[in-house]
Amino acid sequence: MKQNRILDILLGADTYVSGQSLAEQLGVSRQAVWKEIKALRARGYTIESVTNRGYRLTGSPDYLNAAAVKAHLTAKIIGCELEVLESVGSTNDYLKILGANGCKSGAVAAAREQVSGKGRMGRTWQNKKDENVMFSVLLRPKMAPAEAGAVTPLAGLAVCKALRSFTGLDCRIKWPNDIIVGRKKLCGILTEMSAEFDAVEYIIPGIGVNVDQTAFPPEIADKATSLLLETGRRFDKNRLLACMLNQLEEDFRRSNLELKRQALAEYTALCATLGRNVSFTRGGEPVSGAATGITESGELEVTLADGSVCRVNSGEVTAQGIY
Ligand code: BTN
Repeated sequence: MKQNRILDILLGADTYVSGQSLAEQLGVSRQAVWKEIKALRARGYTIESVTNRGYRLTGSPDYLNAAAVKAHLTAKIIGCELEVLESVGSTNDYLKILGANGCKSGAVAAAREQVSGKGRMGRTWQNKKDENVMFSVLLRPKMAPAEAGAVTPLAGLAVCKALRSFTGLDCRIKWPNDIIVGRKKLCGILTEMSAEFDAVEYIIPGIGVNVDQTAFPPEIADKATSLLLETGRRFDKNRLLACMLNQLEEDFRRSNLELKRQALAEYTALCATLGRNVSFTRGGEPVSGAATGITESGELEVTLADGSVCRVNSGEVTAQGIY
C-alpha cells in the first residue's frame, strides 16, 4: 500500500523528503503523492509540508500504527517486518500465511481489531477495536520441535518484564504463560507451530494484552483485568508494543531460546504459581499437590502428598488463590 511506503520513507528520513523524491521512489506522480499525504492526514498522521523542502512526519495517531511502533523500536530482528492491520481474523493465522510464503524470522503482525481472535484450549479472544494490544511474532529457530518448548515461557517472561517496566505494575506469570496482576489475568499467549518431523518451520507466539478493556464476557469477568482497570491510566499502545518487541528480542537473543540459567532463574522468580497448591487432571483423574519447580523444558513440577514429583507440561492447571 502506497501510504505505508510513504510512512516508511518519512520515518526513515531525519529531515524533509521532497515530493519529487517520494514520487520517484513510489513510481507515481507528485500529484498522486499529494493525494496519499492528504489521505494519511485524514487517518490522523501529522505531516508538515514546506515549499521547496517537502514533507516531514511529525506525529501519528494514538491508535496502534506501524510508524509509531517503529519510531520506538530498537530491536533489529523482532519487527524487521512489521505490519499493523486495521482488522484481521487472527494475527496468528495471518502470520501463518506470511510464514508459508517465506517471510523473515522476526516478522510481526499486530492488529487494531481481531474478528476471530483465538485463545488457548479452543477458546476465543475478543475485545473491541483499539481497546487492547494484540500481536504475533514469527520465529524460524533451527531446532527440532521437541526443543522448541522454551519459546512460550521465554515469550511470557519477556512480556511480563516489559509490562512491569512499562507500567510499574507487579505483573507475574501464571504457569505456563498467562501474565497476571494480583489474582487476575492481564495477558494471554497462544503459541502455534509448523514443523517437519525433525525441524521447526516456524513458531508463532501470539500475545494479547488487555490495555483499555473494562468490560469482559461474564464467564471471565471476575478473572480478567486490564492496565486501565489496574492503574486508572491510559497507556500509549504504540510505545507499549515497541517495548514488548524490544524485550522479546533481548531475551530471545540472550537465552539462545533455552530456558536455562538466568532465564530460568528470572522465570522462577516471577512465577506466581510456584509455592501454591495446584490441581489438574491426569488420565481423567483429578490430581493436586504443591507447585515446587519449573524444568528447563518449561514443565511445572508438582510435589504430591506422598512426596513423589510429577511433571505437568500442558493443559489447565488451577492454582489456589489465582484462578
Ligand atoms: C489465552 O488463551 O490466554 C491466549 C490468548 C492469546 C491471544 C492472542 S491476541 C494475538 C494472537 N492472535 C490470536 O488469535 N490469539 C493471540
